[in-house]
Amino acid sequence: MPTDFAATRGLFDLPEGMIYLDGNSLGPLPRTAAARVARTVTEEWGQMLIGGWNKAGWMDLPARLGDRIGRLIGAEPGTVVLGDTLSIKVYQALASALGMRPDRRVILSDTGNFPSDLYMADGLCRTLGQGYALRTVAPEAVLDAIDDHVAVVMLTEVDYRTGARHDMAAMTARAHATGALIVWDLAHSAGALPVHLARDGADFAVGCTYKYLNSGPGGPAFIYVAPAHAETARPALSGWLGHEAPFAFDLDYRPGRGIERMRVGTPPILQLAALEASMDIWDTIDIEDVRAACLALGDRFIAGVEAACPALTLATPRDHDRRGSQVSFRHPQGYAIMQALIARGLIGDFRAPDILRFGLTPLFIGADDIDRAVAIITQVMTQGLWDRPEFHARAKVT
Ligand SMILES: Cc1ncc(COP(=O)(O)O)c(C=O)c1O
Repeated sequence: MPTDFAATRGLFDLPEGMIYLDGNSLGPLPRTAAARVARTVTEEWGQMLIGGWNKAGWMDLPARLGDRIGRLIGAEPGTVVLGDTLSIKVYQALASALGMRPDRRVILSDTGNFPSDLYMADGLCRTLGQGYALRTVAPEAVLDAIDDHVAVVMLTEVDYRTGARHDMAAMTARAHATGALIVWDLAHSAGALPVHLARDGADFAVGCTYKYLNSGPGGPAFIYVAPAHAETARPALSGWLGHEAPFAFDLDYRPGRGIERMRVGTPPILQLAALEASMDIWDTIDIEDVRAACLALGDRFIAGVEAACPALTLATPRDHDRRGSQVSFRHPQGYAIMQALIARGLIGDFRAPDILRFGLTPLFIGADDIDRAVAIITQVMTQGLWDRPEFHARAKVT
């Protein structure tokens, strides 16, 4: 049976009247999450205290939830684990991948990648020394830039600014053909569109859960390691919970079995409880249905905005195969325009230098929301309502 998106909308707690097109930045609150977190606080932490690690199964939660996310990203069971932030997981995956190509020194990425990924890669290269370097090229030049100097290709599948999507299968095949490994960042893919890590032969993947997977602000990230590497990848962040026997308290580090070795320290149980509530929703949803409905919403949004607002330039590829789930427009006054939209209850966000970003997911957005959003954007643009001093003042988070 196809996913009933009219029903999924009722599973999220959204303020009355708000059109929330920012689930690509912070997903909304699942209605059951507050009670689920409260239960973990009062019944588990409150009553079991330290016993919760065993009795409530806290210690296995990162792997249990990893498997549930794995279904959405085409990962084999037992290949995904939760923990830490995405920046940390990027570093961890990169360090392991570099260690598997000791005769090469280059990390290849693109200039559209999220800066934190590039910063982490650069920081790792500086720590390693010995000629390690990060090389970046334009997103459309990556495929041809993969040569036999490249140890690791590190890409975010869907560009956080433009929403343009790399071809995972083609890029992975090219990396492997030259002897390189590939690390995929799925921050804007997991829960947004179907991903086929196993089918496409990805080596490592990482992603966050606070966007499309609705785990709440600061929710932990996940990491995937292909089964072929799971027992050989050396975990650079060798924390005790990635040890083969954490409670043996040995003085020597021995990596744990498979994906367990990518754990670092104590998992954030309250945040994982919120994610568990969200995954109860995700378990009932067909990601192919999400994709089809999302593209239809995107087409409707693009057509509406372009027809009424010629001053906004589409930054997202029109081609369905080339785009993710968000739709972005460019305008030199993008920040002020976005503030004017937010003041009218249409929530998107701004990414420097000129991108207005709108996240579209059918889980809680319908065609009626798109039409209302287009009407608000049209009003703000045609009447110049954004050009007021209060909309130009930059907040800390944009
Ligand atoms: C593509 C991408 N990579 C990495 C990050 C950084 O994630 P975190 O702040 O969880 O480390 C983000 C954050 O939005 C992102 O969009």
